[in-house]
Amino acid sequence: MVSYKELGLSNTKELFAKAHAGKYAIPAFNFNNMEQLQAIVQACVETKSPVILQVSAGARKYANQTMLRYMAQGAVEYAKELGCNIPIVLHLDHGNSFELCKDCIDSGFSSVMIDGSHLPYEENIALTKKVVEYAHAHGVTVEGELGVLAGIEDEVVAEHHTYTEPDQVEDFVKKTGVDSLAISIGTSHGANKFTPAQCTRNADGILIPPPLRFDILEEIEKRIPGFPIVLHGASSVPQELVAIINANGGAMKDAIGIPESELRHAATSAVCKVNIDSDGRIAMTAAVRQVLATQPAEFDPRKYLGPARDQLKELYKHKVLNVLGSNNKA
Ligand code: G3H
Ligand code: 13P
Ligand code: ZN
Repeated sequence: MVSYKELGLSNTKELFAKAHAGKYAIPAFNFNNMEQLQAIVQACVETKSPVILQVSAGARKYANQTMLRYMAQGAVEYAKELGCNIPIVLHLDHGNSFELCKDCIDSGFSSVMIDGSHLPYEENIALTKKVVEYAHAHGVTVEGELGVLAGIEDEVVAEHHTYTEPDQVEDFVKKTGVDSLAISIGTSHGANKFTPAQCTRNADGILIPPPLRFDILEEIEKRIPGFPIVLHGASSVPQELVAIINANGGAMKDAIGIPESELRHAATSAVCKVNIDSDGRIAMTAAVRQVLATQPAEFDPRKYLGPARDQLKELYKHKVLNVLGSNNKA
């Protein structure tokens, strides 16, 4: 058993309180390998931003939990070496059982999400409460979820959004004791968040997706003033990177994300944590495809993973500086 405190990690409590008061959001970047982690740390140190290192159940299986613990500890030390001791959270993304959350807490995670959003309301409350009790006894913060995002969440696929019901949030937060709440207001996971048929075209022929339901967010804020809200499925799917992928042998079709203007708006509201995974995957894939397509004789992984890491770092810096506003908040 290892506590996150021994690894030099932080929980989300103080970070979210400051983010709410300062009207910015903390980036939650998913990772499962060394280059992604290096890029996240470099970007957040250079912009002096706190950061949440996010690990899904699948990523944990891929990377190995022991490796992850030392990688997170390595991230803390690497940030210091780069010259800024930024707050770093190690967070379980979409935990689906008490056992998984407990395992993560016992192996050094400082924050966990228990996602009972697919369960009947009372079962979601009971499961979330059980995780909160164990987590809080260890100083670990917990994210719960109400409402279901359309698309794929690990192995669960939902055809349509089930928007968060504002009338439930106060009761859920009170009964479970969660530290933050993930909501559903029109975002979804992955690179295909909307079909072209759901979008309209602007004067330049660019597809504009239907707006997020900020009216629901405002209702939620009225019911639980000051409470930290989490936005999942917040990749913007940069079209210039999708174009690089497709120009170099890729086949990403109808990839449409959330406009950054909407994410900027969300970051100034009660949304204190913004989850970004797909954009990192796209940035990395674009760089790898470009190198392999233009330098076919290359076979040293550092020659394509190095540029991928650089591309990722630029993407993360852009998110911090131009979308979330968490720069200089470390
Ligand atoms: O919410 C989903 C995250 O993007 C994690 O995805 O389960 O493929 O690692 P994953
Ligand atoms: P994206 O697929 O939009 O990056 O969302 C990631 C996420 O919500 C992880 O929990
Ligand atoms: Zn998610």
